[in-house]
Amino acid sequence: KIINVILTGGVGSRLWPLSRKSKPKQYLEIFQGESLFQKTAKRNISFCNEITVVGNKDNFELSRRDLATANLTNYQEIIEAMPRNTAAAIAFAAFASASNDILLITPSDHLIGNEKAYDASINRAIQLAKEGFIVTFGLLPNKPETGFGYIEFEEENVLSFREKPDLETAEKFISSGRFLWNSGMFCFSAGIFLNELKTFEFEIYQKSLEAFKKISDGFLPESESSKIPSLSVDYAVMERSEKIKVVPSSFQWSDMGSFESIYDYFQEEGHAVDDDGNMIIGNNTYTAFVGLKNCIFINTPDANLILQKEKAQDVKKIYEKLEKEN
Ligand code: GDD
Ligand code: MG
Repeated sequence: KIINVILTGGVGSRLWPLSRKSKPKQYLEIFQGESLFQKTAKRNISFCNEITVVGNKDNFELSRRDLATANLTNYQEIIEAMPRNTAAAIAFAAFASASNDILLITPSDHLIGNEKAYDASINRAIQLAKEGFIVTFGLLPNKPETGFGYIEFEEENVLSFREKPDLETAEKFISSGRFLWNSGMFCFSAGIFLNELKTFEFEIYQKSLEAFKKISDGFLPESESSKIPSLSVDYAVMERSEKIKVVPSSFQWSDMGSFESIYDYFQEEGHAVDDDGNMIIGNNTYTAFVGLKNCIFINTPDANLILQKEKAQDVKKIYEKLEKEN
């Protein structure tokens, strides 16, 4: 079987106040009337017999709603008591599968274009996964982004994998021309992944298994979950495994991580931008900008945000401050 594992743990703090704990960004129906979660599920179902959604207790109802809207019924849910990051989230999906099932792991918050190129990459990845490899998808980088993983490659071979380098290192990677961005999607057989996890992070493997054994109706138990070390799969497995391959890919890919990417997307879709590059997102109350350039006004019923587009990464700080106060 080929299973699409959709990871939907994040809260999207850099998109506050559009994205809230009660409705994280991947569920906002602002992309041609669809959510990114829904687009993800629909995009991958043509390759996969089944979907496994790994999310948390605050968002599983939103996942159900989106899957129902997309008429997708063949799915199973793994509902986390608390986020333990992606190594554990993927382990749960692998424990729920047969050892030779192929898992196509996808985040739920990416926008992907050029479906033909996407299809070609996925088909190649599935083939490599069947041969026993842990497959990553590499994209041509265009700036020294420090929030991504970097893959040093020679055709489909991976020479090294480096998660979230500092700026200086990222700049070196880019100018060397030997690195691709890691897309955050992966493809491998459940058994191979679990073996690698067991080898490199035995505690995550073991504690996740203990929690998984006590799963009831899709819900993982809180007490066992709290004992699982929180680490991303990139550090836990991708940086260390010798079984890694990369499919160099050319599909359009955008991590809708900040208002800067939302702005660019909306602008391409024809959303209004004034002569000074200012944009309004949200409620349609009449708003004018005087003397401001490249600002985004995010207008929601109970919270507003005015932001300089270039500072889009800093929105996270406000979210964190509000979290602390509440
Ligand atoms: N279920 C579940 N539980 N999902 C989670 C958890 C968790 O505890 N933590 C994160 N996720 C989900 C997020 O919602 C997202 O869809 C996906 O897993 C990846 O997590 P991020 O937190 O967004 O990772 P990242 O963006 O910092 O880095 C990853 O993606 C980059 C590309 O966007 C890495 O794989 C990088 O190497 C990669 O470049
Ligand atoms: Mg991300």
